[in-house]
Amino acid sequence: MPMGDDVIAEIKQRLDIESVVGESVRLSRAGRNLKGLCPFHSEKTPSFVVYPKDGSYHCFGCGANGDIFNFLMKTEGLDFRGALEKLAAKAGVEIKPRDEQAAAEDRARERLKEACAAAASFYQNLLLNHPAAGPARAYAEKRGLTQSTIETFQVGFAPDSFDALGNYLLGRGYSAAELVEAGLVAERESGGHYDRFRNRLVFPIRDAKGAVVGFGGRALGDNTPKYLNSPQSSIFDKSSILYGFDLARPHIQRSGQVVIVEGYMDVVIAHQAGQNNVVGTIGTALTDHHAELLKRIAKRVILSLDPDTAGDLAALKGSEVLQEHADKIVVPIRGERGMLGVERRSQVEIRIMQLPRGTDPDELLLSDGGPAKWDALREEALPLVDHVINVVAAKYDLSSARGKSDAVGELALFVREIGEPVQRAHYVQRVAAAIRVPEDAVQEAVGRARPQQRRPERRTPAPQPGPAGGPAPGEAPKPQPDPVTPEEHLLSLVLSYPQTTWMAGAPESEDFTRLENRLIYEALAHAASETTDRTTPNADEIRQAALDSLDDALRPHFTRIASRHEPDLFRFALPYELENRLKRLRQHNDRMWLQQCQLMMQEAQESGDNDTINKLMPLLARSLARFRHYNPKPSTVFRDSRD
Ligand code: UTP
Ligand code: MN
Repeated sequence: MPMGDDVIAEIKQRLDIESVVGESVRLSRAGRNLKGLCPFHSEKTPSFVVYPKDGSYHCFGCGANGDIFNFLMKTEGLDFRGALEKLAAKAGVEIKPRDEQAAAEDRARERLKEACAAAASFYQNLLLNHPAAGPARAYAEKRGLTQSTIETFQVGFAPDSFDALGNYLLGRGYSAAELVEAGLVAERESGGHYDRFRNRLVFPIRDAKGAVVGFGGRALGDNTPKYLNSPQSSIFDKSSILYGFDLARPHIQRSGQVVIVEGYMDVVIAHQAGQNNVVGTIGTALTDHHAELLKRIAKRVILSLDPDTAGDLAALKGSEVLQEHADKIVVPIRGERGMLGVERRSQVEIRIMQLPRGTDPDELLLSDGGPAKWDALREEALPLVDHVINVVAAKYDLSSARGKSDAVGELALFVREIGEPVQRAHYVQRVAAAIRVPEDAVQEAVGRARPQQRRPERRTPAPQPGPAGGPAPGEAPKPQPDPVTPEEHLLSLVLSYPQTTWMAGAPESEDFTRLENRLIYEALAHAASETTDRTTPNADEIRQAALDSLDDALRPHFTRIASRHEPDLFRFALPYELENRLKRLRQHNDRMWLQQCQLMMQEAQESGDNDTINKLMPLLARSLARFRHYNPKPSTVFRDSRD
């Protein structure tokens, strides 16, 4: 794990807790741990214990627990930033000044978005009103755009001028540098600037929140390029934007389905035709980011492909098309402009909707009875693997033995990648039926097909198979998960499912001993509590709000935990998984506390220290009761007291 900017981790690595706590608490040895008088409540015999191995402390008297950050915050009355600055100085770790940089960047991005919004109005105003926009209006009409669609999508006209937009926006107080960064104007090599979009019908591109972040400009005739897009910038990232998503989101949510097409015009016309769950990629591959936007609101992702692209699927090797990672299948699909890929999770189903050859979605939808045909094609859309089976089956001469064996061999590569055993068995049957060979033959080919070398994964594989479906016996060994502490294992689930913060049996913030985990948990719980929609909470928004509210220094840790892969859990599986992880964390903490408690009890008994014995008795009893509640075999606590 690159630790580069995770200053908290670095500080913790450099500073041992004894030296930090030792500055204000006199510590003495207690087994492998240290004890002292608790600084957080008044006592005469020590019940404050420091665990060097864990970098944490716990007081048996008052229950205070935490790490060096909590400690400093509480003893010196500092906020997180204050503690961070102090500890960073002590550890010799450099930190960026408080939030200033991030806040300044946010403000800068906001301005760029405002400039884009102003440009969108400028362009639209021209399209609607300017005499020079006559040909553009005619073109829009020729493409079938209605007035109301033009307004909904704020379609506009970029005039045939090198400085109209630039001058307008400079006049409104934006700097040339800002306009360049927003991609609205381009720099001349000789100095100076010129408008990027000229003589084009422009489609403002909005992010998921509806802010204009870029433009796609359609040439009015056969000029090239046909579409000109805004360049990549701090506000515009093609790989994470789906055109029309801001408008489509509620419809996707309602229907549980999203249809992905490849063009601006296709999206706009689809919405006009009442197909409001349609979104478009912007001349790029489908990426993880796209999948991220969709995965929690869409159960079914339908790719609308023309037959050539759809046929291309079969030209790929199985491992390139399907890669199974625990419960996740990554599906890169080759499109006209390179690889399209989408992530399939166990509950997201990918279907391929095949349009008639040479027909774009917009043409189909504008034709007589188009929307009904569209509905029918969408309903006929085949699950990805079924689609591939059909395409491969059509490719070979299945009347020959050779053709059959080639087809089975190719399909075996796909089927081999399906991790879920029942589904895999289902597809073995399907392949056997499609190629007309006995199931055994397919089964054997699937067994023979070597798993392809897996690409390095950005995400860490799920540490635990979800209760919904683990690997079957005899299945290929899964990649080993990163070691993760019980706290982080729990936090990772909470980040994936923010509703866990309001569920019965939600963690307490004190369950997290490491301050970074605790603060992240608190930020998430707070952000989640502000959600109005508790039936279908928007996890991305909650996470984003939590992330925004956190100190910069906590963000790398947040991102690291949030990017762990979590299984998709059914509604009823989530509380179960939550309880499990919380249980494991509490067991872990209780075990440490109990071990120490017991050790101190022994010492007190040996030295006849009745005060301590009397104090420890109820604590021991209470901890033990709690421990028993979470652990059916309490005797194991003491057995491995040195681990
Ligand atoms: P297509 O070439 O399929 O165009 O590009 P289209 O959507 O059918 O366009 P019309 O109907 O001729 O107007 C699909 C998408 O690929 C991107 C755009 O996002 C476009 O909508 N694209 C295409 C570009 O970015 N640049 C191009 O030059 C062409
Ligand atoms: Mn088209």
